[in-house]
Amino acid sequence: MIEEFSCAKDTDVETFLKEQAIRYERDGLSRTYLYITSENDDPAIAAFFSVAITSTEFPGVTKSRKAKILGGKPGRDTKDHFGGILVAQLGRSDAFAQGDINGHEMIEDAEYVIERGCYYLGGKVVYLDCREPLIGFYEQNGYALVKPELYPSGYFKMFKSLHKL
Ligand SMILES: CC(C)(COP(=O)(O)OP(=O)(O)OC[C@H]1O[C@@H](n2cnc3c(N)ncnc32)[C@H](O)[C@@H]1OP(=O)(O)O)[C@@H](O)C(=O)NCCC(=O)NCCS
Repeated sequence: MIEEFSCAKDTDVETFLKEQAIRYERDGLSRTYLYITSENDDPAIAAFFSVAITSTEFPGVTKSRKAKILGGKPGRDTKDHFGGILVAQLGRSDAFAQGDINGHEMIEDAEYVIERGCYYLGGKVVYLDCREPLIGFYEQNGYALVKPELYPSGYFKMFKSLHKL
């Protein structure tokens, strides 16, 4: 089934599922959740998302922005990194349409998993890395940019506070 998954809009998403997801699962580095359909008894992966524990750095992020991300507790605005949960991957197969499964539903499902995990383990902030064309999509789903500039990774970093889930 994994071999048939394709995601031309972001081949990193496809490569992650095909080449890394299972290894990361075994190594405890992330958890991947699949949307599997079985029309005509022919199972296929319609979409997936992966979540992971993370620590995010704040290069060049202003003190006031850090206070907004991490909360106003004294000393928070001096931190140069902070733990949280990463929505590491999220993508729909090219063989499926928005009517089958849309991005908003996938984010809601990812946040459901994250909320449950953080209820037992703690955690305050959800992060994700994205390319410029998807900033608006994530903003519509309640995420905000950590800073307006790209991170050294070449992605924009976005966040959402857990209390907003
Ligand atoms: C992200 C995703 C799940 C959102 O699904 P959705 O809510 O059903 O919305 P759509 O697929 O219609 O995407 C919304 C818009 O973003 C665009 N878009 C989506 N992924 C894109 C990408 N990787 N690069 C550039 N544009 C992208 C779509 O073409 C669409 O543009 P339009 O409104 O002009 O038609 C889905 O688009 C997807 O699987 N994208 C490919 C994988 C991906 O980019 N994952 C995110 C990595 S940060």
